[in-house]
Amino acid sequence: MLLSRLCRIFAVAVLVVFAAQAQTPTPSTTSPTKVIPTQIPERNAILMGAAWYPEQWPESRWEADLRLMEAAHINVSRIAEFAWSTMEPSEGRFEFDWLERAIRLAEKHHIAIVLGTPTAAPPAWLTSKYPDTLRVEPNGQRVTHGNRAHGSVTSARYREFCRRIAEQMAIRFGHDPNVVGWQIDNEYGYALMSYDDDARRQFQDWLKAKYKTLDSLNQHWTTAYWSETYDNWSEIPIPVGAHNPGLMLEWKRFVTYAWNEYQKNQIEVIRQHSDTRQFVTGNLMGFFDGFDHYAINEPLTFSSWDDYVGSGHLDPDFNGLSHDLTRGFKRRNFWVMETQPGAVNWHAVNNFLNKGEVRVMAWEAIGHGADALSYWQWRSALNGQEQYHGTLVGPDGTPVPLLDEVSQTGKEFAKVQDSLRGTEVVSQVALLNSYESRWAIDWQKHTSKYDQVGLLKSYYHALRALSQSIDVVSPYAPLGDYKLVVAPDLNLIPKDLAAHLLEYVQNGGHLVLGPRSGMKDEFNTLLPQRQPGFLVDALGGRVEQYYALDKDFPVTGAWGSGEVTIWAEQLKASAKDAETLLQYGQANGWLDGQPAVLTRGYGQGRITYIGAVLDDKLMAAAAQWMVQKSGVTPAFGPVPDGIEVLRRTGAAKQVLILINHSTENRRVALPHAMKALLAGVDETTVELPLNGVEVLLDRQ
Ligand code: GLA
Repeated sequence: MLLSRLCRIFAVAVLVVFAAQAQTPTPSTTSPTKVIPTQIPERNAILMGAAWYPEQWPESRWEADLRLMEAAHINVSRIAEFAWSTMEPSEGRFEFDWLERAIRLAEKHHIAIVLGTPTAAPPAWLTSKYPDTLRVEPNGQRVTHGNRAHGSVTSARYREFCRRIAEQMAIRFGHDPNVVGWQIDNEYGYALMSYDDDARRQFQDWLKAKYKTLDSLNQHWTTAYWSETYDNWSEIPIPVGAHNPGLMLEWKRFVTYAWNEYQKNQIEVIRQHSDTRQFVTGNLMGFFDGFDHYAINEPLTFSSWDDYVGSGHLDPDFNGLSHDLTRGFKRRNFWVMETQPGAVNWHAVNNFLNKGEVRVMAWEAIGHGADALSYWQWRSALNGQEQYHGTLVGPDGTPVPLLDEVSQTGKEFAKVQDSLRGTEVVSQVALLNSYESRWAIDWQKHTSKYDQVGLLKSYYHALRALSQSIDVVSPYAPLGDYKLVVAPDLNLIPKDLAAHLLEYVQNGGHLVLGPRSGMKDEFNTLLPQRQPGFLVDALGGRVEQYYALDKDFPVTGAWGSGEVTIWAEQLKASAKDAETLLQYGQANGWLDGQPAVLTRGYGQGRITYIGAVLDDKLMAAAAQWMVQKSGVTPAFGPVPDGIEVLRRTGAAKQVLILINHSTENRRVALPHAMKALLAGVDETTVELPLNGVEVLLDRQ
């Protein structure tokens, strides 16, 4: 993770006035009646929550906790996601009365409930009686009971037990007025698989259904290489470590498929027995890439994620990017199902966030499209593996110092929630994110320095500074509404994807490809043509050779002069109208004087290929050129350094959230008077101290 450590110790009061020029906001695509599934009817549009574990405490304590939560403006709680042994203490004996009482008590304190299915924590009676429900590690060892995520996702027996507990919960609570939705499992077992014979057979059957014949599989994977040819489906292994790239990609697809089947098995029974008003979500983990998140999100009502800084301090860019990634899974608002109450317990150094930082993190989430934010956790279990994790009350049940800040934030959420009702993030710029390309490059990085998330972040940083709003979406997402689409490392561009991208360009879009683009097809097989493969003709140029760099090389051109680092590709134009925007200076001989960036008008749009990793200054200049060439306008207008602008758009209104991440006081001049919702007055300038936040309502 890339975490910048912002020094916030000495705040020097420097007021910088920047005239924020009014920009015409992107027309709202939100109609007054549009239903936003993340906003629960009859509840505040923005919710503040905490994970609560009533099963860990005597019932006599529950009301004290709920009373404290209510006083702290907490109005949603996720419960039960690890409580299997309490809900089904022995096989087939279900005990939900305690849960019902907890839900009723929460209702009394105006706290809505999200029920988690407990399938990340199967009980001991289950795993002891049916050891085949436990995962087998790649080394052949079956995991022992006592942790979590120990169930086998491919075990038919385990799935049956998961389905049954989810079904029983849904029968009991599927119509409960205080249950607003469901979370499936917990973080999907980190996508861990079981490496047993049954799982292997399922993988082989899955391959058979896909490829039909071994000839086809052998051909697509080029198995003649190293005598990998398969004569029988049963010979195909589960890859452990480096393997044939075709096999490795299919295994990842199978992992995605297995976890999707696992959750659908539960979703199906929940849907059967619950009101349609109850949502179904799953708590994901930002840039974790254990499976393809676009596929996993398909059956969910909306996405949620667990937002932890871990060690260090909030990196607004990286955290913002992670929010935008999550919003892009379903291209709609999302929830932050878990977030850090100061500190975690799982890092090398579990430092506490500074005073004010937790509130800033909360507002950043809302600005990027979250409609709920929930702390993990309310109170630490007295025993168990996470005794040191941050909480909102101490082991004695009284508030820790941070609760005041959370409570203030919750109060602010309640104050502005109505203005945020029906609002969503609308962007003119999209970054493309592909799990398949990410895996393909990570398996054969060619240089250990190649950091794809870092590359994505460098594009994000430069483009966000100018556009102030970015979507991160799948390459297969509808692209027509974007003025600019940037794919920093789309390694796999099969024919159908090339057609989708070309259609976007032909209709007037600007597609920017980064290095390593268009090298392979959907089988992770090299295309028998140069990069960017099926897009070579449209670009009017191609990659002659790529080089992993042991030192930086100079480049110069339309974006100024600077250096490229880590990776450089030697480009060559074939079309007369393909323009070279940057060329290498004296480099390794091969690259000297050769094009590093090509661009060409195509159809009504444009395609640009950036064949190297650019330094920060060049990246900023490239971003400037991209937005100018594509007609991208900022969501708000220029603001002082360190101010993050977040915009949510609704029918006839926009809500702007301004956050001061800098170490100094800042003043932002508004283009016209807006209602400052936190201050409660109309403002034409906003003063923001360190960690200052303001929420502005701009009616149109
Ligand atoms: C994850 C889990 C939680 C808890 C936190 C601790 O997000 O979902 O149960 O373990 O980590 O940070």
